[in-house]
Amino acid sequence: MATVIAIDGPAGAGKSTIAKLVAKELNAIYIDTGAMYRAMALYLLRSHIDIEDEKALMECVASADISIRFVDGEQQVWLNGENVNGLIRTEEVSSMASVSSAKGAVRVKLVELQRKLAEDHDVVMDGRDIGTHVLPGAKPKIFLTADSRVRAKRRYDELTARGEACDLDTIEKDIIERDERDKNREISPLRQAEDAILVDTSDMTIEQVKEKIISLI
Ligand code: DC
Repeated sequence: MATVIAIDGPAGAGKSTIAKLVAKELNAIYIDTGAMYRAMALYLLRSHIDIEDEKALMECVASADISIRFVDGEQQVWLNGENVNGLIRTEEVSSMASVSSAKGAVRVKLVELQRKLAEDHDVVMDGRDIGTHVLPGAKPKIFLTADSRVRAKRRYDELTARGEACDLDTIEKDIIERDERDKNREISPLRQAEDAILVDTSDMTIEQVKEKIISLI
């Protein structure tokens, strides 16, 4: 039977770290759907269109060819023939992704790609709407969350380790704002599926979270 595991939750809950480990353990591929929304956001930024202009947005989305490839088990996102993996984690792209991922045209296109990938492979897929919308038959569905301060602190530690100056309060405020946008958008908002298992990682180590999820499978 195919392995289809959904891991949803807010930013910074540890989804990608955990999904990667679980995928490795199960010999499945890890799919980071956020990276697809980020690649689309990069394309929209480069196109300089007004994303509130529906017609322009539809045309732009239609001309974006987003695909993913795996290099040594790591997902790489390609945009119109260019590997954009190293370009999608900037603040500018994060902000645009947070706004453009609320647009129907963007979601329809990327959900189609996500479903196709799950048809062809055993997958552990992370995102915001995987259990509720993209792969409603996934088993198990995990909703990973953590206190906003804890999530902000993890991001703060990551940035500080890279030598980037940052401020914990600002990071937390930003995280809360993005959560609100993800939760309150009309299309496929961030929500725990009825049959999803809630895992609060605030006081858990990565190893403990991984073990918990493996024990649920
Ligand atoms: O997980 P992330 O921060 O890389 O996601 C980037 C953006 O895309 C974020 O604003 C939430 C959005 N997103 C989404 O709406 N649906 C998904 N399945 C994955 C991400």
